[in-house]
Amino acid sequence: MSFDAVVIGAGPAGYVCAIRLAQLGRKTAVVEAGRVGGVCLNVGCIPSKALISAARLVDRAKHAETMGIRLGEPEVDLGKLIGWKDKIVAQLTGGIGHLLEKNGVELVAGRGRVASPNLVEVETAQGVRRIETQNIVVATGSRPIEIEGFAFDGERIWSSTEALSPKSLPKRMLIIGGGVIGLELGLVYRRLGTEIRIVEFLDRLLPGLDADLSKEMGRSLKKKKVPVHLGARARGWKESGEGIEVEVETGNGKIESFDCDVVLSSVGRAPNGKGLGLEECGVEVDERGFVAVDRRRATKVPGIWAIGDVTGQPMLAHKGSAEGLTVAAAIAGDAGAAFDPVGIPGVVFTDPEIATVGLTEEEAKERGFEVATGKFPFRASGRAMSLLETEGWVKVVADKESDRLLGIHMIGPEVTELVAEGTLALEAGLTVEDLAMTIHAHPTLAEAVMEAAENLHGRAIHILN
Ligand code: NAI
Repeated sequence: MSFDAVVIGAGPAGYVCAIRLAQLGRKTAVVEAGRVGGVCLNVGCIPSKALISAARLVDRAKHAETMGIRLGEPEVDLGKLIGWKDKIVAQLTGGIGHLLEKNGVELVAGRGRVASPNLVEVETAQGVRRIETQNIVVATGSRPIEIEGFAFDGERIWSSTEALSPKSLPKRMLIIGGGVIGLELGLVYRRLGTEIRIVEFLDRLLPGLDADLSKEMGRSLKKKKVPVHLGARARGWKESGEGIEVEVETGNGKIESFDCDVVLSSVGRAPNGKGLGLEECGVEVDERGFVAVDRRRATKVPGIWAIGDVTGQPMLAHKGSAEGLTVAAAIAGDAGAAFDPVGIPGVVFTDPEIATVGLTEEEAKERGFEVATGKFPFRASGRAMSLLETEGWVKVVADKESDRLLGIHMIGPEVTELVAEGTLALEAGLTVEDLAMTIHAHPTLAEAVMEAAENLHGRAIHILN
């Protein structure tokens, strides 16, 4: 039996691609070695967001007194919390399994390998299964990078996976890497009562985001009294009393030791592009394991495609899903199918939240635009005040000459939802004036987007411009 397409990997790139292929009438199989849903559903986006909303509730309960509501000190039943999180994961992954089945996608459990451009070999529990196919879609994702001296052991040295299923709450956590995972999970633990400390190699947090966002997050951590070491490198660790002692080069050759109970090492992710038989078939895979693809997400070898984290940054679920839809369309014969977004939104569920889409101010300048920016702080938003969350702002980046929106960057309450407006505006090629003249409901947080656009033209109403 031959398939039209075999997708290797059932994460948000692979399962979306497989379902769309089936919708388009293509006979499709998806090969998965672990659990359906990939990192995102099992040990990434979804479980982390469950813990983040629980931690946020703890925080809100603590601050309810400001609103005149006394709830007392919240108590965390960790076992129950993790159980609740696991239930959400099980519900979602079960749902994806059901969708695959009902769409007629065959799920093959086992590790897949590309034997030739028309043959996938799967190591199943029953032995090797050979599957003939017209197309192969590689959607094998990525894994956490391990740094020297900090091999993940699940006890003292955690990756994000262990941090999502702790057996107990550590008293003190040292976080290596002040990126997305370190800050998201670090702030969850802080809200649950853990003391955190951040060690970041570069001279700023959240590299790659608009520099104003990094600065604002730095200020916010300072206010929370979270120690942050920039330009610092963790060198090693040893057991010490009840906990461990981590040796850190904190700059100018200075070496300091910090006591903690666990280390969360979150220094980025590496693609799973090697060992799949791709190079042997003539597919280009770089030394890090990224698979080279064109705008259609086709590799150089006809019939072999790649999507998701394995094709490069940004390693985001929604980017992988969008690539999956592109490839499904291309396989089904859409000659115009291409992955060509104007902006891919990025959302970071920190406290406060961060969201961004399009060019940063620095990127816009590098590309030669005469840049204009506008900003609106949430402290001037009535809705933000009523939520007791006035930290942060919305920043609009535009081309001064044409007024075209180039990027939008936000930090503050619910910005992970607000960024959808910016993404749509970018895709639609809107100007800042379009944003400013769109009526936004009052009182909402989204008004901050309109006011930031107005501020760019020097005429926001609720702040002095
Ligand atoms: P990241 O790339 O966001 O951050 C890693 C940080 O570690 C960087 O700031 C880097 O400079 C630093 N670093 C690297 N080596 C170091 C060393 N030896 N010592 C100290 N610092 C060092 O990577 P992260 O946080 O691990 O996340 C991986 C990927 O997962 C992200 O790039 C993102 O694509 C994805 N992700 C996305 C989320 C979201 O969209 N909300 C949430 C979690 C992950």
